[in-house]
Amino acid sequence: MKYKLIINCKNYEESTGSNFLKLVHACRDLEERAKQLNVDLILSPSTIDLRESISNKIQTYAQHIDAKNPGSQTGYTIPKILKNIGIQGTIISHSEHFLDNEEIKKTISYAKELGITTCVCARDATAAEEIALLEPDMIAVEPKELIGGDISISTARPQLISESLDAIERGSLNLSNQPQLLVGAGVKNDIDVRKAVELGARGILVASGVVKAQDPKAAIENLLEGFRE
Ligand code: G3P
Repeated sequence: MKYKLIINCKNYEESTGSNFLKLVHACRDLEERAKQLNVDLILSPSTIDLRESISNKIQTYAQHIDAKNPGSQTGYTIPKILKNIGIQGTIISHSEHFLDNEEIKKTISYAKELGITTCVCARDATAAEEIALLEPDMIAVEPKELIGGDISISTARPQLISESLDAIERGSLNLSNQPQLLVGAGVKNDIDVRKAVELGARGILVASGVVKAQDPKAAIENLLEGFRE
């Protein structure tokens, strides 16, 4: 499986509306380099920008989906409708949009039925082990207290990366598929990425390190180099 670099745009002013186009252009410009490095470069835009991302042929993940069918539903993000417009995947249960395990299970099952790739977030290794049993495609471990900060998981909690990998292995022992481990929180540069990969992560979830960077394209380019072997 290819490495993943998922840019969670969240709902920053710097990453939405007309500002979102800067991220789209940066990803398009870096598409070739990502390919050379065996990395899927993925944008997870605010719901309002999903179409823009998709129409520019960027791999696009929703930030959240609700376990609901199309129809008389107000204010929900409906998986089938997002699939119809072309999303490839979704984040589920980000720390900032937390779901209990029952809801995660339901959401994964909606996504699977539609062929939407799932990346479920976990705050620690225990949660990662529980979530592994629900068989998502990926589990992104992000310690809540490091999200949006300047110190990365790779620097502050390297042991959590290896512990999470063990936890996912334990959780998926009797299952046919082992979810891939992604990590995130405070990731800013290639050194953070390289360390995470060395400890067993297959990808990175990043937000402020790109969205709030003075030069988002340079920030993405630098993060990509962390996957160089
Ligand atoms: O989903 C990614 C995220 O929560 C990490 O945020 O700003 O620490 O890169 P950030």
